[in-house]
Amino acid sequence: MAHVTFEQVTKRFGDYVAVNNLNLNIEDGEFLVFVGPSGCGKTTCLRLLAGLESITQGQICIGDRQVNELPPKDRDIAMVFQSYALYPHMSVFENMAFSLELQGKSRSEIKQRVYGAAQQLGIEKLLKRKPKELSGGQRQRVAVGRAIVREPAVFLMDEPLSNLDAKLRVQARKEISKLHEELKTTFIYVTHDQVEAMTMGDRIVVMKDGILQQVDTPTNLYNNPINMFVAGFIGSPAMNFFEVEKVVQEGKAYLQLGQNLISLEQYLPQLTTEIGGLASGEALRGLGKAEAQSDRHLTLGIRPENIYHPQYLPPEIQGLNIRAEVNLIEMMGSELIVYLETPDGAEFVARLDPRATVTSGESLDLLFDAQRLYLFDREMETVI
Ligand SMILES: Nc1ncnc2c1ncn2[C@@H]1O[C@H](COP(=O)(O)OP(=O)(O)OP(=O)(O)O)[C@@H](O)[C@H]1O
Ligand SMILES: [Mg+2]
Repeated sequence: MAHVTFEQVTKRFGDYVAVNNLNLNIEDGEFLVFVGPSGCGKTTCLRLLAGLESITQGQICIGDRQVNELPPKDRDIAMVFQSYALYPHMSVFENMAFSLELQGKSRSEIKQRVYGAAQQLGIEKLLKRKPKELSGGQRQRVAVGRAIVREPAVFLMDEPLSNLDAKLRVQARKEISKLHEELKTTFIYVTHDQVEAMTMGDRIVVMKDGILQQVDTPTNLYNNPINMFVAGFIGSPAMNFFEVEKVVQEGKAYLQLGQNLISLEQYLPQLTTEIGGLASGEALRGLGKAEAQSDRHLTLGIRPENIYHPQYLPPEIQGLNIRAEVNLIEMMGSELIVYLETPDGAEFVARLDPRATVTSGESLDLLFDAQRLYLFDREMETVI
């Protein structure tokens, strides 16, 4: 078992910066997930840690040992690749035993470890088969088994479930979480699937363009995203964004969303000093900084699950009335996903109570949960 540290780690491929000044502490025994869109640098982070790629700048430590120059085999890690990379001419047993043979382990120890791992993964009966005689799910388990037998200090997994169909993926996801509980080893797991990240990770690293955006627990990422990228990436369907303007009427500040005025004092009291003060004009006088900020363009965010049909508004929720026309309805059984458009053309998605009757083309007065609004600086895309 070991903790892992990335300290100001940068990786360049020629001029291209794949990982940009990454600072990260991964605790011993933690299940840490890297998530982000294709090409954001997730695999590169794992490969740097595994020693399959050299570090351009910075340092990586596994335990208290700096591993920058250490060859992969001496790093005490095991990696499960997306492609599984099983040797086709070897049986399952041989695939799992291979790395232990290279380490010069005794025949009896190899047998014991391979059978132990096979049992843990429910693949004892497959040990004599070749990879081509296995289903995708079985191959995936063999790939995990091959990593387990090495009893590494850190497991690295790069999209190990992406070749499985949806149902199998849910099952395999649970198995990997269970395995982590049993082994209590540090797991570092890469995925571009935010549901996998949310359900498996103790903490999640959200990356974009080689830059760490936020690292936090699933709950905190969902509730307190630091910018629009994280807000839009975590949660499905994604958070809705609306361009809003500040307006002042009779000395009170509002956000204008289409025809609607959202009172800052009433709905976003925590922001009244920041936005309201600036909007009122008084704070603008003189100060260059305030003046610059007064031109600040704003984006309002709300998640689809925080929008309600008027007939199904829970009593404890204070709803903001927003009129919109229904474009498309997807009945999912347990929920109703409705695609809507405001009179001035802003499109958004709502996740409504499945009992609600909604028809395409109808105009509705939906209710936005006033306690669940997010406000972002439109240029910086940071949360306010
Ligand atoms: N050996 C390489 N030479 C040049 N560029 C590379 C190399 N390996 C990766 N890259 C580039 O670095 C960036 C990050 O790649 P990486 O494989 O880490 O992305 P990823 O987040 O794992 O994406 P995906 O979800 O598609 O697997 C990409 O733009 C990729 O093209
Ligand atoms: Mg990748």
